[in-house]
Amino acid sequence: MPFNGFQSITTLVCWQYIRLHPITGPERCIDVDTLDKSAVRRAFNRAAAEYDRHAVLQHQVCERLLSRLDYIRCQPRVALDLGAGTGQAARALLARYRGCRVIAADLSRTMLQTIGRPRPWRRIAQRVQCDAEALPFADASVDLLVSASTFQWCGDLPRLFAEIKRVLSPQGVLLFATFGPDTLKELRQAWAEVDDAVHVHEFADMHELGDAMLNAGLVDPVVDTEWLHVSYAQPQTLMRDLKVVGAGNASSRRRRGLRASETLRRVASAYPRSADGACLATYEVVYGHAWGSQLRRSTVSVAFDRRS
Ligand SMILES: C[S@@+](CC[C@H](N)C(=O)[O-])C[C@H]1O[C@@H](n2cnc3c(N)ncnc32)[C@H](O)[C@@H]1O
Repeated sequence: MPFNGFQSITTLVCWQYIRLHPITGPERCIDVDTLDKSAVRRAFNRAAAEYDRHAVLQHQVCERLLSRLDYIRCQPRVALDLGAGTGQAARALLARYRGCRVIAADLSRTMLQTIGRPRPWRRIAQRVQCDAEALPFADASVDLLVSASTFQWCGDLPRLFAEIKRVLSPQGVLLFATFGPDTLKELRQAWAEVDDAVHVHEFADMHELGDAMLNAGLVDPVVDTEWLHVSYAQPQTLMRDLKVVGAGNASSRRRRGLRASETLRRVASAYPRSADGACLATYEVVYGHAWGSQLRRSTVSVAFDRRS
């Protein structure tokens, strides 16, 4: 088992709030220069074979994201899983929308290879290796764009959302989940006690994501956040898991080379522990959705039972 308990994911959700548009404020890029894209690609290439065995949190986030499709009525002809990884969302889209052409796009060729080749007898997503910030698709060619646990690897949010807006059809829908600033805050704090290098990335917050969507011209963006906690017996297991799923440190300001075991021991002892001695890792999950350029009144309305 990579960590103490999977149940903690579902039982330790703390709270959730929704901020509706309009969302305003200065537009910001995450420090683009600090994200080393070749390091991101290499890390996910290396992670591909073991990803599904260890990416328990990412699979949970993807499942939660996909469940939101129940509330969006759409019949896409073309659906794109952006940052598809091993294709969890792409497979779900194929199963959900019969007759829809599903594209799995990812920066990492090795990740895409795990999905397998399309065969006449096997309905499988078409694989495209590309950067989410420079999509090789025609304008207005995608009806549904789903992306799970990927936007945190895209440093230039204005460019990312401009590309998404460009490829979405006017009635197209964008649905994503990414990570917010509280993510891995315990690990960030533990490292801060040991040295002043960058060990945990910067993550955009929900307002920055909302602003970027709005500024790109996407229609009616909505974002909400939930906090998930994963419990580990030892911080070393968390650090190993992050590395195995390709989510290590890809900052271009990262300190290169092997870490001395003494350094890791100091990080482990600085890691905050809960009363029962467990090490909790926080994940702030930011969900968002928006429409291409035309708001479709196609969401399902849910009637609440009023009791006196
Ligand atoms: C944490 S994995 C998520 C995979 C999958 N969506 C899931 O939910 O399991 C992040 C994926 O994003 C891909 N990725 C990172 N940066 C990217 C970029 N700029 N463009 C496209 N894909 C990217 C990685 O190669 C990796 O497969």
